[in-house]
Amino acid sequence: MNRTLLIVKPDGVERGLVGEVLARLERKGLRLVVGRLEVIPRDLAAAHYAEHQGKPFYDDLLAFITRSPAFVAVVEGPKDTWRILRTLMGPTNPAEAPPGTIRGDLATETAENLVHGSDSAEAAAREIALFFPQLA
Ligand code: PPS
Repeated sequence: MNRTLLIVKPDGVERGLVGEVLARLERKGLRLVVGRLEVIPRDLAAAHYAEHQGKPFYDDLLAFITRSPAFVAVVEGPKDTWRILRTLMGPTNPAEAPPGTIRGDLATETAENLVHGSDSAEAAAREIALFFPQLA
């Protein structure tokens, strides 16, 4: 099986959309391997988003992702799981996300775009090791 990291971000948990997100993934054929609800520690968030350090939105991004509990999970499928999840999510900017995608149906702003999914197989391995070292 092939795995990727999913985060239902604080806005998704606050809005009660964890079940909706998971139901969409499960209907597609992906499976939840492990998940937990947690306020992501700031140092873990900084490591996760290290590539964005110095960008104009970086401070807002860290404040947002650590403001209340997120649902952090590993999902798996037969292959290309990271790509399947990204397709279900839709583009980063919900204004560009087509209907039928998670962001297209449920979000309006880039700063509160509900979900994170690893953007490559390499990123999936790195992010799973960061949040779930026992699985690495
Ligand atoms: S970049 O510069 O093109 O690589 O950035 P991008 O892929 O568009 O976004 C990277 C992550 O930052 C989030 N983001 C923001 N968060 C808060 N506020 C603002 N303004 C903002 N702009 C971008 C975006 O949702 C991406 O988060 P992840 O978790 O990777 O989807």
